[in-house]
Amino acid sequence: MYGIHLVGDLGDRLKVNELKCWLGAKVWRFCNLKGNIEIAGLQIRMSIFMSKKMKKLVVLSGAGVSAESGISTFRDAGGLWEKYDIMEVASYDAWLNNQALVLEFYNQRRKQLYEVEPNAAHLALADLEKDFEVQIVTQNVDDLHERAGSTKVLHLHGELKKVRSTIDSSLVYTLDGWELKKGDTCEKGSQLRPHIVWFGEAVPAIQEAIPLFEQADICLVIGTSLNVYPAAGLIQYIPRNCALFLIDPNDLPPVYHPKTVHIREKAGKGMLSFTQQLRSGKEERPTV
Ligand code: OAD
Repeated sequence: MYGIHLVGDLGDRLKVNELKCWLGAKVWRFCNLKGNIEIAGLQIRMSIFMSKKMKKLVVLSGAGVSAESGISTFRDAGGLWEKYDIMEVASYDAWLNNQALVLEFYNQRRKQLYEVEPNAAHLALADLEKDFEVQIVTQNVDDLHERAGSTKVLHLHGELKKVRSTIDSSLVYTLDGWELKKGDTCEKGSQLRPHIVWFGEAVPAIQEAIPLFEQADICLVIGTSLNVYPAAGLIQYIPRNCALFLIDPNDLPPVYHPKTVHIREKAGKGMLSFTQQLRSGKEERPTV
């Protein structure tokens, strides 16, 4: 009795067809890809992994990916931080000093979120789940990645549609509608606050994000000025042989990684170029 244990990544059709040619049509007829084949007393044990081993694509997204949906970025000309003082609306001190202003600021952001839709870039990222294991790590507090169909989205800076207790941070709720009012309380009776990471506060999700970047095969950074840490530091965790793509129409701080490509386009158009490169396998030797 002879045993051949075939183990390998035979994920795509081409390789399965190569195997078929190699075994020959007569033998192939007896193949049960999940089990054994028997040919005239010879038993060939086959363990063929039919499931495609997908590459891990880790995406760090920022406000720019939602810009074409009509949501303002923060640091561009005309961006939110030109209209508001960050420390007056997005810090814990602001919450203590002027709760009404903070509530109003996030109520307006939340109200707008109900009026916008995911754009071509969000949709393209969701579509990549057909061919890649896609993990999105976003600094955005909107839910446009989810609404576009992305299934793995980690929010570093919180979520606009959620609110939480001010005395027990584990009590997080999805707000019904867009308006959070003074006097809206959690089940323990404390005022609810936006479920947002404010300046000066810890970013608990960063611990979950780091291993995702450490395991990336391909990393995409889209629509972020890479100004805010610890989020911007995540790309330092990608392996040396991981291809790194940046999609942003503007200059970015220097990124020291050997396989970096900056696609200088807005998110929608940039995603077209990026997906073309991925689907033609060019991430192995990326080009602009
Ligand atoms: P920024 O406003 O700092 O950066 C937005 C980036 O998007 C810039 O690099 C722009 O060039 C780029 N951009 C603009 N339009 C674009 C488009 N149509 N397509 C693609 N890119 C475009 O926003 P973030 O980097 O996301 O934090 O900011 C990070 C954090 O700072 C935010 O999460 C927020 C903010 O303060 C908190 O509120 C905690």
